[in-house]
Amino acid sequence: MNKKALVITGGSRGIGLAAAALFRDSGYRVINLSRSAPALDGIEHIVTDLSDSNWTNKISRQLQAAVAGVDEISIVHNAGLLLKDSVETVNADILHRVMQVNVVAPAELNQILLPTMGADSSIIYVGSTLAEKAVTNCCSYVVSKHALIGLMRTTCQDLVGKQIHTACVCPGFTETEMLREHVGGQQEVLDSIASGVTFNRLIEPMEIAKTLFFAATNPVVNGSVMHVNLGQIEH
Ligand SMILES: NC(=O)c1ccc[n+]([C@@H]2O[C@H](COP(=O)([O-])OP(=O)(O)OC[C@H]3O[C@@H](n4cnc5c(N)ncnc54)[C@H](OP(=O)(O)O)[C@@H]3O)[C@@H](O)[C@H]2O)c1
Repeated sequence: MNKKALVITGGSRGIGLAAAALFRDSGYRVINLSRSAPALDGIEHIVTDLSDSNWTNKISRQLQAAVAGVDEISIVHNAGLLLKDSVETVNADILHRVMQVNVVAPAELNQILLPTMGADSSIIYVGSTLAEKAVTNCCSYVVSKHALIGLMRTTCQDLVGKQIHTACVCPGFTETEMLREHVGGQQEVLDSIASGVTFNRLIEPMEIAKTLFFAATNPVVNGSVMHVNLGQIEH
């Protein structure tokens, strides 16, 4: 039986899929929560829609059974929702929807698992460069990712003495469906984004996955905001 478990949200593709594979290959039992299943062997998938305000009631029991017997649990809050909106167009419905997936669901998932999380467990949040700065037309996303840093910092403070550590890993432009969709699939826009990075390329999902693994397994990072963006060129 595995002595360690990863509970990850959004492991069906992109950064989450890379992280699920990496933790699995490192001997973790991996439990993924997302709507679609990862195309990956050796992963337990629990169909979950984090935008459903009743999602915890639907899956709590199954999740608790999946981690039974393991007390070293890493949670990676990776699922995210990125919409196009601005301070002039965003409305309450959009804000509630984005906050539900990006902030409320992580807080709820923590509460399902914390009672069974022992020493050396970890809670890792996936933020964004936009957790500490803003660009145009991502209002709800920027607000939610800033809030996630607050959730991470309060996680650090509220779990004093429990030997559970936390961090917020903030990726830069990473080659995934989320980024492709955001630019409308236009390769020239992706190329232009890459040219604003010091290495003149996008980040591979596995590069972020390795940082997530480092953060999950090194308690010294407790309370940190870790920017992993290959160096963005400032203007
Ligand atoms: N790519 C980037 O450039 C970039 C930059 C900074 C930060 N990030 C952050 O990195 C994280 C992963 O992003 P990614 O680029 O890998 O995106 P992605 O390829 O679009 O994957 C997003 C994941 O989130 C899951 N998800 C979305 N809505 C969900 C819902 N309602 N319920 C359950 N799961 C849901 C998706 O699963 P299903 O569709 O199967 O439910 C999918 O597995 C996100 O938090 C994102 O904000 C990405």
